[in-house]
Amino acid sequence: MPDNRIALVTGANQGVGLQVAKELAANGVTVLVGSRNFERGEAAASEIGPRAIALQLDVTDQDSINAAAARIGDEFGRLDLLVQNAAISNTGRRPDATVEDHARMTRPSNVSLDEVRAVWETNVFGVLAVYQAMLPLLRRSTDARIVNVSSGVGSLTSNADPAFGYRALFGPVYPASKTALNAITLAMMIELESTGIKVNLVSPAYTRTNLQQLRRNGVGRGRLARSGPRRPARSGRSLGDVHKVGKCDDPLVRADRTSPAAQLLPQAAWAARRIQGE
Ligand SMILES: NC(=O)c1ccc[n+]([C@@H]2O[C@H](COP(=O)([O-])OP(=O)(O)OC[C@H]3O[C@@H](n4cnc5c(N)ncnc54)[C@H](OP(=O)(O)O)[C@@H]3O)[C@@H](O)[C@H]2O)c1
Repeated sequence: MPDNRIALVTGANQGVGLQVAKELAANGVTVLVGSRNFERGEAAASEIGPRAIALQLDVTDQDSINAAAARIGDEFGRLDLLVQNAAISNTGRRPDATVEDHARMTRPSNVSLDEVRAVWETNVFGVLAVYQAMLPLLRRSTDARIVNVSSGVGSLTSNADPAFGYRALFGPVYPASKTALNAITLAMMIELESTGIKVNLVSPAYTRTNLQQLRRNGVGRGRLARSGPRRPARSGRSLGDVHKVGKCDDPLVRADRTSPAAQLLPQAAWAARRIQGE
């Protein structure tokens, strides 16, 4: 493993991505703080410290992706770790809407196709586009890893179970975008299984970030069943916990636990222990 590892975290200017970037930098990794807004990326990078470098990267903009890959190639010649974290849950939330309201407004029968397309553009096609642009740089690393950030709410196995606590929220927008992300991650694993590049899929579980913009009102079990105003995030939830919390037993998640090609990146697992939790 190179001792001067280079990581790119997409959507690293806030939330889970920012925390992952902080932990990686604290662990000696040079972190490119992917941010669609460069100024927000610069602010995050200065908060993280000298090992962080802001990188303009909008995962829905091919020119931005190409420019980011060119800059990494020019400045570092390779990429060791790609954390595909950037995502959106919706484009036009109503501040007063509960998760149940939102689920009712985004069922297969009534969802806006524009809304589906917009969310999938970021959460699915954006991940694929960044993968394609960064893969040549990852191939130049002696120990490359890809970590895609998914969600337990995308698990087909869990949502097929009537007892699954978040089943009522499963719909074509955010949850199904994560299902699709799981599928393309499996395709990446298959494509790269004969190489040294490891591919992993993780989920931070329910974490109070700006992604969780909808007021919760009793949907789900345990922590998800709470309602009320957002509170500041606290640290302490392991990324791996979502698989237990959500009882996700998709083949992909099983592979995540057992396949040598899909071992958790040590730094990401370490970083994940500090990721903001409820
Ligand atoms: N929070 C949870 O409970 C939870 C649970 C399961 C999984 N996850 C997953 O964890 C990851 C991080 O979520 P989070 O909770 O930290 O959300 P967040 O606080 O809303 O952060 C999302 C990040 O993605 C960025 N982003 C959105 N669209 C982008 C684009 N087109 N190009 C580049 N960056 C873009 C955002 O940038 P801006 O600041 O410019 O908007 C922001 O930096 C996501 O993949 C999410 O699905 C979260």
